[in-house]
Amino acid sequence: MQYFYKPFPEYFDPALRRQLGVWYTPPEIVRYQVERVDRTLRDELGVADGLADPSVWVLDPCCGTGSYVVAVLDRIRRTLDGKGMGDLAAEELKRAATTRIVGFEIMTAPFVIAHWQVGEMLKGTPLVEGERAAIYLTNALTGWTDSEAGPPIPGYEALVEERSAARTVKRDRPILVVLGNPPYNAYAGLSPDDEGGLVELYKEGLQARWGVRKFNLDDLNVRFFRVAERRIAEGTGRGIVSYISN
Ligand SMILES: C[S@@+](CC[C@H](N)C(=O)[O-])C[C@H]1O[C@@H](n2cnc3c(N)ncnc32)[C@H](O)[C@@H]1O
Repeated sequence: MQYFYKPFPEYFDPALRRQLGVWYTPPEIVRYQVERVDRTLRDELGVADGLADPSVWVLDPCCGTGSYVVAVLDRIRRTLDGKGMGDLAAEELKRAATTRIVGFEIMTAPFVIAHWQVGEMLKGTPLVEGERAAIYLTNALTGWTDSEAGPPIPGYEALVEERSAARTVKRDRPILVVLGNPPYNAYAGLSPDDEGGLVELYKEGLQARWGVRKFNLDDLNVRFFRVAERRIAEGTGRGIVSYISN
């Protein structure tokens, strides 16, 4: 994965790579965040089995090649093995991977690798026709609040299905944990209209009350933080955000 992340996007489209913050996340950091989230779920939110509890919905909104998704599934597997669930553990892991451990990614190449990684993880109980990992090709910053289904994309019906599946997660699923390594780019321009005034709340009163004229609140990292914070604070009402910040 490490090698995929550096040479491939650099060769394929270096400007896009910088624009979308396509950087690999070291496995030690991924593991640390996942363990920390698991423990916080148990110790502070009273979820006895942590990430392995079937009620815990997890989202990595910028999952790249799926490092966090795979690490969460691995944590679940270890918990289930510890409970001596035998063959049922593999079925439970597959259920988690196809429903509640969700990844969003905007670039097709890492998206495909993320699917492949989850497939490898589920070798014991392979996905069959009609099943898929809960990793969706979508813009994680849009589609959370608007009620419209979006315009048709002639000739790309699969993309329309993908958009609709991602939208169901954004609007209807009780996401409790948002974790990942969001892109950062202070020069990404203002948050566009289709993000629905994502960071406007953070700017309220800055100039009038505090005289602050310069800020980096349109940085992609802040936009991803707002997506997570809004989902937890205004959606689920409780939960955990674990991000690498810039
Ligand atoms: C720092 S990388 C994450 C790497 C990942 N944790 C891994 O180790 O493979 C950030 C990812 O966010 C994706 N991304 C950037 N903007 C996005 C958006 N609006 N919606 C979804 N994904 C986005 C990039 O394509 C990139 O794969």
